[in-house]
Amino acid sequence: MLIRASTALIILAHLSSAASLCRTFCNNIPIRYPFGIDDGCGAAPFRRMLNCSTAAGLFFATPSGSYKVQTIDYAKKTVVIYDPSMSTCSILQPHRDFLLADIQSATIPPSPDTLFLLLNCSLDSPLLNHYRYLCSNFSGHSCDELYASCSSFKLFHLLSSNSTASPPCCFTTYDTIRYMSMNILDCSHYTSVYNVDALKGVGPLDWLYGIKLSYGLPELGCDRCSKSGGVCGFDVDTQGFTCICSLNTNATRDCGGSFVNRGGKSNGRPSLLGVFVLICRAIFLTLSAL
Ligand SMILES: *[C@@H]1O[C@H](CO)[C@@H](O)[C@H](O)[C@H]1NC(C)=O
Ligand SMILES: *[C@@H]1O[C@H](CO)[C@@H](O)[C@H](O)[C@H]1NC(C)=O
Ligand SMILES: *[C@@H]1O[C@H](CO)[C@@H](O)[C@H](O)[C@H]1NC(C)=O
Ligand SMILES: *[C@@H]1O[C@H](CO)[C@@H](O)[C@H](O)[C@H]1NC(C)=O
Ligand SMILES: *[C@@H]1O[C@H](CO)[C@@H](O)[C@H](O)[C@H]1NC(C)=O
Repeated sequence: MLIRASTALIILAHLSSAASLCRTFCNNIPIRYPFGIDDGCGAAPFRRMLNCSTAAGLFFATPSGSYKVQTIDYAKKTVVIYDPSMSTCSILQPHRDFLLADIQSATIPPSPDTLFLLLNCSLDSPLLNHYRYLCSNFSGHSCDELYASCSSFKLFHLLSSNSTASPPCCFTTYDTIRYMSMNILDCSHYTSVYNVDALKGVGPLDWLYGIKLSYGLPELGCDRCSKSGGVCGFDVDTQGFTCICSLNTNATRDCGGSFVNRGGKSNGRPSLLGVFVLICRAIFLTLSAL
């Protein structure tokens, strides 16, 4: 009886540690598929994108640096990140380029309703000449409005060689800065604003500053795995999909079928059944070994 109980406990402990193999929170931000902060958790294409430290919080790592994650919306499949070195309405800071790795541009690019606002561009900027068409109309908002409303941007006007005209600016999408660095674009500062579709008639003081990324879910069968009580992950060597069922059990598809009833079809609720069968089998093995 004692043996039975302790065996069951050990197995249950192993099962619940599937979760502890993959942390599900970084401070107060939930971490779920396709993301992971422990290697082998989440989907392989999103490997090493998130970086969690209890002290500093959650960061999104890119070739141009790590950006603080503000929110992850799993229903809308968006992640809002913030570049602490970018300028906003209240602070002026020297720019650094914002660059994603190719795989990030493919799997988690900035959303179409995120605009990059390039400020204090020189008259020689390609954006005022050959590439003028890359600058878009942001709900009727103008550079002058930005320079006039934001304490941080008033400086451009004051320091401009032609004090009767503001220095040019350009509202553009990520693709522009993806292919041309800020130095080529010849604009001294940038800021970025998301949810731009909702900002018509809203002044720059109330804009949402940051970068909203939008991702898709790889079709790897994660549904089936999580319905069976597993956590979706991948093999760190082959990058192949893995359903993590417990600390020492990984399955190729789900925790119900592949290692409990081999060849059996998983039904609607394989999880409880799977656990039960596993426990029974372990008890049986333990008892028969005595
Ligand atoms: C992840 O965080 C660690 C510690 O905070 C840091 O040293 C490292 O540069 C970060 N990794 C990336 C890829 O940004
Ligand atoms: C604006 O850009 C010009 C170059 O076009 C630069 O000399 C100037 O320092 C910039 N203004 C600020 C406030 O950085
Ligand atoms: C920009 O859009 C506003 C309305 O959103 C319109 O009134 C204005 O004429 C447009 N400007 C340009 C240059 O297309
Ligand atoms: C200053 O800007 C005004 C208005 O855009 C323009 O008419 C004028 O020619 C500019 N002066 C110089 C010196 O660039
Ligand atoms: C299961 O997969 C995870 C993620 O790849 C890995 O960390 C763990 O070591 C694997 N466990 C076993 C028993 O293979």
